[in-house]
Amino acid sequence: MTKIKKWQAEDASALAKAINNKAVLDNLRDGIPFPHSEKDSAEYIEAMTSADPNNTFAFAITLNDEVIGSIGAFRGVNIHNRTAEIGYYIAQEHWGKGITTQAVRLLCDYIFENTNIIRLYAEPFAHNIASCKVLEKAGFTYEGTLHSNAVKNGKVIDMKMYSFTIDN
Ligand SMILES: CC(C)(COP(=O)(O)OP(=O)(O)OC[C@H]1O[C@@H](n2cnc3c(N)ncnc32)[C@H](O)[C@@H]1OP(=O)(O)O)[C@@H](O)C(=O)NCCC(=O)NCCS
Repeated sequence: MTKIKKWQAEDASALAKAINNKAVLDNLRDGIPFPHSEKDSAEYIEAMTSADPNNTFAFAITLNDEVIGSIGAFRGVNIHNRTAEIGYYIAQEHWGKGITTQAVRLLCDYIFENTNIIRLYAEPFAHNIASCKVLEKAGFTYEGTLHSNAVKNGKVIDMKMYSFTIDN
């Protein structure tokens, strides 16, 4: 059974196992260390658990109570402070079983029930079909393509904008 839960220090080793994989990191923004040690994961968990709980909503994704990934919503600033960007990944051995779709649904429920956020959005790379499908299956609306919006691994890439608003 898929659940999301607040991070705990003891999750560092499981988190490192999930993210120490180029196939995962190639679909995320830059800045995450690779190779990824348990210490790197411990630092991430510490940053999440000490962040302002009104702005950072970071969870482990668990399958049968074992940590297999990460998901979060991060509140915007200024005029965007009632919107939040979401991000997620899970260990490659668990891809394709519907787990992240379920985690995204759980995150959306949590955010709309517990915060004043009115819009969640995600910007997957346009070629990341799995992530786009996750968002579509979880009820997000495709709003358009952001052309030449990033450079990843030396390549100019398009990104797609998806949103889920409280009145969806
Ligand atoms: C993207 C990611 C989170 C998806 O997680 P997941 O648990 O495998 O997702 P789900 O199983 O819920 O849904 C994935 C869907 O995409 C489909 N899919 C995957 N690769 C595909 C491809 N190349 N072409 C078409 N469909 C594809 C799957 O079949 C599934 O659809 P289905 O349920 O209709 O069969 C996971 O692949 C991952 O961690 N990737 C690396 C990090 C990443 O991309 N994060 C998101 C950044 S925006």
